[in-house]
Amino acid sequence: MPIVTMTVNGRPVSADVDPRTLLVQFLRENLMLTGTHVGCDTSQCGACTVHLDGHAVKACTVLALQAEGGAVVTIEGLGAPGLLHPMQEAFREHHGLQCGFCTPGMIMAAIDIVNRHGNELAEHTVREELEGNICRCTGYHNIVRAITEGARAMAAPVLNRAAE
Ligand code: FES
Ligand code: FES
Repeated sequence: MPIVTMTVNGRPVSADVDPRTLLVQFLRENLMLTGTHVGCDTSQCGACTVHLDGHAVKACTVLALQAEGGAVVTIEGLGAPGLLHPMQEAFREHHGLQCGFCTPGMIMAAIDIVNRHGNELAEHTVREELEGNICRCTGYHNIVRAITEGARAMAAPVLNRAAE
C-alpha cells in the first residue's frame, strides 16, 4: 500500500494507507483524531471540515493521498484546555452549540471565513459562507453571532487573549 506523509496539527505523520482512504478516515482511524466528525459522507454537512494548507476542506471529499506533503489542522490543533482559540471561546460564550456534533466543522469553517473576509463580518456574509455546514440543533442564530464575535476576538493581540 502507498505511504502517505503529511503534518497534522504541526506533527509529522506517515502511514501505509489503502489508496481509497479518505482524509477524514485517516484522521479518525489512523490518528485517532475523532474531533473531526462524519455526518453524511456525501459532502453536504460540513461536520468533517478541516484546514488543508490553510484552506477549509471537507475531509470526506479528499483522499488521504491527495493531502500528501500537506499541512492539516483539525479541531484538536486549536487552543488547549484553559486557553481556547478565540473562535472556540466565542461559540462557548454565545451558545453556538447544543449537541456539538457540527461544532468542530463549524469552527474550522468559521476560521476560514475570517481568513478570507477579515475580522469585521456582516451577518449575511456569515450566513452565505455557512451554506456548506449544517446544524440540526441551533437554528443558526447563535452560531452566526458566535462567528461574528469570534472574528473580532481573533483580531485581538494574543497576549491580551491569554490574560483574559
Ligand atoms: S461528512 Fe463530510 S460533508 Fe458531511
Ligand atoms: S449543535 Fe447539534 S448539530 Fe449543530
